[in-house]
Amino acid sequence: MASSVNSSPTPGILPNSSIQTHFLPKTSQLSIFKKKKPFTFASKKVVSCKASNGSQNNERSSPNRFDRRDVLLGLGSVYGATNLVSDPFALAAPVSSPDLDLCEKSTVTSTSAGTIKVPCCPPKSAKILDFKPPKFSKLRYRPAAQMVDPEYLAKFTKAMELMKALPMDDPRSFMQQANVHCAYCNGAYDNGDPSHELQIHFSWLFFPFHRLYLYFYERILGNLIGDPNFAMPFWNWDAPPGMPIPEIYVDPNSPLYDEKRNVDHQPPKLADLDYSLEENLSKRDQIKSNLSVMYRQVVTNKTATLFLGKPYRAGEKSSPGAGSLEQSPHTDIHKWVGDPRETYKEDMGNFYSAGRDPLFYAHHCNVDRMWNIWRSLPGKKRRDFTDPDWLDSSFLFYDENANLVRAKVRDALDTKTLGYDYQKVNIPWLKNKPTPRRPGKVSAKGQAKAAEANNTTVIRNVFPIVLDKLVRVEVPRPKKSRTKLEKEDEEEVLVLQNIQLDRDVGVKFNVYINDEDDETPTGPEDSEFAGSFSNIPHNQNKGGVKLDTSLTLPISDLLEDLDVEGDDNILVTLVPKEGKGLVSIGNIKIDFIRE
Ligand code: C2O
Repeated sequence: MASSVNSSPTPGILPNSSIQTHFLPKTSQLSIFKKKKPFTFASKKVVSCKASNGSQNNERSSPNRFDRRDVLLGLGSVYGATNLVSDPFALAAPVSSPDLDLCEKSTVTSTSAGTIKVPCCPPKSAKILDFKPPKFSKLRYRPAAQMVDPEYLAKFTKAMELMKALPMDDPRSFMQQANVHCAYCNGAYDNGDPSHELQIHFSWLFFPFHRLYLYFYERILGNLIGDPNFAMPFWNWDAPPGMPIPEIYVDPNSPLYDEKRNVDHQPPKLADLDYSLEENLSKRDQIKSNLSVMYRQVVTNKTATLFLGKPYRAGEKSSPGAGSLEQSPHTDIHKWVGDPRETYKEDMGNFYSAGRDPLFYAHHCNVDRMWNIWRSLPGKKRRDFTDPDWLDSSFLFYDENANLVRAKVRDALDTKTLGYDYQKVNIPWLKNKPTPRRPGKVSAKGQAKAAEANNTTVIRNVFPIVLDKLVRVEVPRPKKSRTKLEKEDEEEVLVLQNIQLDRDVGVKFNVYINDEDDETPTGPEDSEFAGSFSNIPHNQNKGGVKLDTSLTLPISDLLEDLDVEGDDNILVTLVPKEGKGLVSIGNIKIDFIRE
């Protein structure tokens, strides 16, 4: 399977699109806009990125910059599309389940408070069972958390109480279960190869791993209360009545409560699905913004790579690129719930501790529900991967009888095979298509002109760029005015490559296309908003190795809405919202993807 292809791929040959010259635009110009002119340079001065950001050179030469395939194929830096292009010569390599004997403590760091080592390894087991789908007589339905009745609540509360009362070394206990997430996310597993720590975020493993994790969690809860039909609730954050933290989680006397949450984000405050530290919207605007985020992340992201995330195989660099929903709202909600007073933003605000908040599981049930909804929407591209490397990737979990079980991605594809589905509730965002901020065509050229007139400092064509302020980049389009058929076949995407940052920092930036250069911020409800990148602090054990990932955003619909499909260039605006100056971007280009 090729997740990215050239317009005319030659069979058996490396996709040429990866060596296209359009990486480095002819007119390549990178404008950094200063709205209030704080620069001491004369306006419109031309400087180079090197001069303004010397530290980037180190990142450029970091050994982590090229992945395995670069080295194998000897293509060096020319072969820049490594994060998106599947290598036809790669050996079949599903990510295999971890060797628990080699599990190590997880590392958690913060620049201000230093490093702690957290034991997250599960108990060992002499035998591993292979997963078998459960036998059941009727489907169990996971209810929306804001709608459950007192009888359900009593049951759920009891189950959580019993789980919390299990001895610490029982693999089904509350802390051991929370540690499952910590181990898979904070560098506990490398199967003996420290340069390849397992990471189940930022790739196509995200949805299936979390689905299986919840499945076992739910079975344990059901077993504890003697009800195999017990189903966990989901946090219905995609619909207005479900947007606040569900009430059942905020009673301090309940086992569903967690004190390590942001005190300013208690009900009736609505979750911010495009959360960045700065914004505070009215209730009405928040709902509008949230519904637009949902539309874009689920409806506009039509292909498996866009929605589920990029391929990640055994022996490859982890974290190739998260799918749309993982980025937002998944990560944003983690950060919105996490407690800013805590050193490492515990609990939800750091992967190592996220599973210690009972709300985590309700959050992830809704994430899981979105996978079902995405698959049910019309469109022939909205299908799961069929690549055996994905299907055969496997994980280990303890089941309700404390047996260690190996489950594969292929076991996770259908919730009905797993015995559950979701309560049908209203999906209010299916029609919330963003609209252009200003009717009429706004071309990249016009934008660039306006920018220059506006005392702009122009930086010429040097990647990587450090995102310490608003940055505008003109990006050429390899193909214009595609036919309807071509558009159906291939999605035009904007790819931000080699996004590098320390894993332990919170980062968020938004990406806009042909946006106005004025003071009113564009939001998710505007067509110009193409998407965002968000990192939640999480570490790997290998100190100092940066997260090196990518972001791919679909732009076919957006270009159509802005009426600029015939244009040669688009103007991309990157706006840092959190962690200014802590993230760099290696390259920005346009590509076309089929899957
Ligand atoms: Cu594994 Cu929401 O994170």
